[in-house]
Amino acid sequence: MGFSSEWDKCYQAKSQLSVWPWSDIVSLVNRYCKNLIAKGGGRVHEFGCGAGANIPFFLALGMDYSAVEGSPTIVRQLHERYPDLADKIRIGDFTRNPQFPCNYDIVIDRAALTHNTTKAIRCALQIAFDSLKPGGVFIGTDWFSKNHTDFNGGEQSEDEFTRNNHIKGQFIGVGNVHFSDEPHLRDLFSKYEIIFMEEKIFKRYEPKDNHQFASWNIVARKSSFKNTVTTSKRY
Ligand SMILES: C[S@@+](CC[C@H](N)C(=O)[O-])C[C@H]1O[C@@H](n2cnc3c(N)ncnc32)[C@H](O)[C@@H]1O
Repeated sequence: MGFSSEWDKCYQAKSQLSVWPWSDIVSLVNRYCKNLIAKGGGRVHEFGCGAGANIPFFLALGMDYSAVEGSPTIVRQLHERYPDLADKIRIGDFTRNPQFPCNYDIVIDRAALTHNTTKAIRCALQIAFDSLKPGGVFIGTDWFSKNHTDFNGGEQSEDEFTRNNHIKGQFIGVGNVHFSDEPHLRDLFSKYEIIFMEEKIFKRYEPKDNHQFASWNIVARKSSFKNTVTTSKRY
């Protein structure tokens, strides 16, 4: 399905090694998971943890952390760095069957689903929905936007929102990149209650290359009262 081996090659080449917690994740967890933080616990699962930038943040909050990541190279490194999490960080495709018995309070995704096709993203969002406790939240950041300059680069992949084979810009060598707009996000998250959605647009003035970075942040809740019966019709 949507998972690509390009990321493993990046990590083998020691690129894309982000290791500091992402500020949008820190802000949104603090804003939307206050009760959990006050209780000093909770179960959080990350889709595509990469080099583990967000791990120290969740451990500092005392949360029970787990993740599924597709690159064996980076998972091996994470197991060395966090031996206590060796059973909790697994190699796998998060658009396929869930790897853990779940009941999560939070599912986190920073720029991981957005490297998959629309079909694969729908599968991952369904898995996240099924894995969350009623009232649990999905927090997604840096889902690239159609307003990003590189939406016009590369080639169209499997569907109108997904592009690949970029030869310039920030997406060289990373395979599929999915670019969303508001109606598409509302459609993708139709089973959830969207409680926060914002588009970040950064227009570059120097160097004068007319570049625009644009991405979405979204917080979506699995309602406690409705939509908790799942169907598999979109698989
Ligand atoms: C842009 S990196 C983000 C890494 C990390 N979330 C961060 O914010 O630093 C995207 C990550 O998602 C992983 N990924 C993308 N699609 C995946 C899939 N279908 N299954 C598992 N991992 C996937 C890639 O291997 C890569 O590590």
